[in-house]
Amino acid sequence: MAFGFRYCGRRHMAMIMRQNFAKCCEKKLNDQINMELKACHQYLAMAYHCDRADVSSPGVHKFFLQASTEEREHAEKIMKYMNKRGGLIRLSAVPEPMPCFEDTLAALKYALEMELEVNQHLLDVHALAGQQNDPNLCDFIEANFLQEQVDGQKVLADYIRQLERAQSELGEYLFDKYITAAGMHPPSVDPKGH
Ligand SMILES: [Fe+2]
Ligand SMILES: [Fe+2]
Repeated sequence: MAFGFRYCGRRHMAMIMRQNFAKCCEKKLNDQINMELKACHQYLAMAYHCDRADVSSPGVHKFFLQASTEEREHAEKIMKYMNKRGGLIRLSAVPEPMPCFEDTLAALKYALEMELEVNQHLLDVHALAGQQNDPNLCDFIEANFLQEQVDGQKVLADYIRQLERAQSELGEYLFDKYITAAGMHPPSVDPKGH
């Protein structure tokens, strides 16, 4: 649903500042905002599934909660950008997330699939911006999203592999302790110790 732009005079201000921002790019960015919010919702569902007494994985709960917050921040970053370009933000209904998973491994695999889908959509936004000769949008996507996506996907793939190797009740318990300290963006180790 569009924000309350019944005030045509004010809407006109956004149109005056609008420059080289194609309608198709605006639509694609709105789709991206809604994908980020869908991911935010899914991670939130995963986080509170892990918080249940019969699951009790506090480390994974914290990890997914942090991931959910990040997805919301991504959505808001694009919303802020949309307003800078004179576009119109359109939020859609957020689909119901997958409510529960058999174990942490299944949840992490689902998270990686979701991130790959989000990344593909970001690449599509970038390609469309290139076709439409919109270097500002290309730069926005490159500077704020593309590398972070790839980094996050590598972290998820690493966790999946580590958990596959540790697959047992004890292994999952130990993984939960480990992930509490590591998180989605573990600090990089500087070999010089700086
Ligand atoms: Fe995101
Ligand atoms: Fe993400």
